[in-house]
Amino acid sequence: MKKVSVLGTGSYIPSRVLTNEDLSKFIETTDEWIVSRTGIKERHIVEDENTCDLAYHSALKAIEAAGIDKDEIDLLIVATFTGDNAFPAVANVLQARLGLREIMAFDMNAECSGFAFALVVAEKMLRSLKMNKALLIGAETISKYTDWSDRNTCVLLGDGAGAVVLGEGSGEIIDTNCYSKGDLNKYLYGAGTPLKSPENNVGNTVGNIEMNGREVFKFATRAIPSSVKSILEENNLQSDDIDLYIFHQANLRIIEKAAKDLGIPMDKVFVNIEKYGNTSAASIAIALDEAVRSGKIKRGDKIVTVAFGAGFTWGTSLIEY
Ligand SMILES: CC(C)(COP(=O)(O)OP(=O)(O)OC[C@H]1O[C@@H](n2cnc3c(N)ncnc32)[C@H](O)[C@@H]1OP(=O)(O)O)[C@@H](O)C(=O)NCCC(=O)NCCS
Repeated sequence: MKKVSVLGTGSYIPSRVLTNEDLSKFIETTDEWIVSRTGIKERHIVEDENTCDLAYHSALKAIEAAGIDKDEIDLLIVATFTGDNAFPAVANVLQARLGLREIMAFDMNAECSGFAFALVVAEKMLRSLKMNKALLIGAETISKYTDWSDRNTCVLLGDGAGAVVLGEGSGEIIDTNCYSKGDLNKYLYGAGTPLKSPENNVGNTVGNIEMNGREVFKFATRAIPSSVKSILEENNLQSDDIDLYIFHQANLRIIEKAAKDLGIPMDKVFVNIEKYGNTSAASIAIALDEAVRSGKIKRGDKIVTVAFGAGFTWGTSLIEY
């Protein structure tokens, strides 16, 4: 069975920067509160770009980094919950915009775990179908679902996209796992459009993001250590066999607590949350790209990624880069 490797990575961040100072001008908050509770200093939000635009630019960079021709791509998955339209999928539109062949292209929604879920699906499809290369993207414009008057949530979120090209190469996606626990969905969700009928033909609206931060915090600080421990155990590895850990960039305190509980020094844990906040399905993909481009990950290194998000959902991967 062929091994599936990460051939190249890319990311794209919209240019508008929203600092904590900027937020404090329209909600009751301070830079000190946000930094001390979350580690976030600023985030980027779109002005006139949508999710497909962010995905497009990150994809071009990943294709270039992989050194492949776009005609070699057999599969395109976009992990997002913030597509430009209810339908068609971002991936469908992007297939044409990137000038790809007529291939299978679809979106996946597992909220902040979307990229982790898509990685599992893409890897299994490349191994078992007549497909050789996949383009996998996490892209979000969460700003359009954000209640900018709710200080509990708006300070946490940001827009961005990250991409990888997968195919046969020197590395390997060694192991993956993903889980859902739907009974906790009430703690983090974005309300959908209300029901309509001929008698009640009201306009469509999409609700804002609702969150119980403490419950999410409790869940995440349990899910990361248990996922890391189980993937290491299943592969007969110790925590110091791993060169870099990439956890979902949701809150620096979650990342630090998980690392402490696992006995992992922070210099082995990638952090960029201060620049982008939580970019949901794009978070792990952007971090992966920045870690590669900054030389924190080199060919042959072993990395573990853990994503978590609404549902609740969570997903882990063990990758030899
Ligand atoms: C949201 C979060 C940062 C809140 O931090 P916390 O230490 O738990 O803070 P608390 O909820 O205890 O709130 C403390 C106080 O700060 C206030 N507060 C909340 N947001 C604030 C803000 N942006 N600025 C100032 N004060 C704020 C609260 O209203 C509360 O005030 P009160 O005590 O008068 O009610 C934290 O719970 C968290 O990050 N949870 C995980 C969220 C997450 O990761 N979501 C996405 C997952 S994919």
